[in-house]
Amino acid sequence: MGSGTSIEVAKDLGIEAVGLDLHQGFNVLRDSIVRAVGKHADLVLSHPPYGGMVLYSGHVWGSEPHPDDLSHCMDDDDFHTKLQIALFNQRGATAGGGYYGTIISDWRRNGQYSSYQAECIARMPQDELAAVLIKAQHNCMSDNKRYGKMKLPLILHEYVILWQKPKSIQSRLSLLRSVAKQQQARLTGAWISIVRSVMSELGNRASLEDLYHAVEKNADPEKLKRNINWRAKVRQVLNQNRQWFEPVTRGVWELAAD
Ligand SMILES: C[S@@+](CC[C@H](N)C(=O)[O-])C[C@H]1O[C@@H](n2cnc3c(N)ncnc32)[C@H](O)[C@@H]1O
Repeated sequence: MGSGTSIEVAKDLGIEAVGLDLHQGFNVLRDSIVRAVGKHADLVLSHPPYGGMVLYSGHVWGSEPHPDDLSHCMDDDDFHTKLQIALFNQRGATAGGGYYGTIISDWRRNGQYSSYQAECIARMPQDELAAVLIKAQHNCMSDNKRYGKMKLPLILHEYVILWQKPKSIQSRLSLLRSVAKQQQARLTGAWISIVRSVMSELGNRASLEDLYHAVEKNADPEKLKRNINWRAKVRQVLNQNRQWFEPVTRGVWELAAD
C-alpha cells in the first residue's frame, strides 16, 4: 500500500479496503495475506517496487535495507521468483470468481530491458489472465531527463495486469499443474525452435552428429553438463515433431516441407 493513499481513496469511495506493506511489518513473501486480512477479497492488487528502480527500505523508509524488500533483489531472476511468490499469495487471498493483479512497469538500465510485466504474465496461469491495461506512468525517474539523440523512447507507461481466480474448487486446486504444464509447453517449443534454427544453419539437412555438435556450440556448457540426456532430447524433438522434421536416412534429418 506504500503511503496508503489508494486505501484512503477507496474508503472515500465507500469501498472496503485493507492495505499491507513491509514498512508496517507485513511481508508478502512470508506472511499470508488472507490470514492478515481475515477473509477472502474480491480484488487483491499489489503495487510492488519495479525491481531496484526505487529502493524502499533503507531509503524511502527505515534505516536498513530489509532482506525481503522486493526493491533489494539480487538480480532479475530473484525479483521474478519473488514476484511470483507474491502473486500466488494474492491468488490465495482472492475469493472464487474475484480478481488478483499487479501494477508493474518494465525497466531499462544500461541498455538492458527487463520486461517485468511479460514475466508476470508468463509465470501465472494463462487461463486466468483477464486483462492487461496500459496507463501513463507518473513521476517517472526519467521525467526530467532530456535526451538529444535517443535511439529508443523512454518508458513512460506501466501496466495493470489482472487475473481472475476460477470459481470452481477443482480449477483452483490445479494451479501447480496448469503453471507446470504451460512452462513445459514453452520449453518444448523452445527446443523445436532451437533444433529448427540449427538445422536451417546447417543447410536444412543434418546428421545427428552435426546437430549435436551445433547444439553443443550454442548451449551453455554448464547447463549441458547438468542435463546428461540432452542428446536424447534432440532425438525426441526430431521424432515427436514430424510436422517440422523428416528423417532422410538413418541418423540424417531434414526440415519438413510445408
Ligand atoms: C511502488 S511502492 C507502492 C506505492 C503505493 N501504491 C503508493 O501509492 O504509495 C512499493 C511498496 O512495496 C513495499 N514492499 C517491498 N517489498 C515488500 C514485501 N516483501 N512485502 C510487502 N511490501 C513490500 C515497499 O515498502 C513499498 O512501499
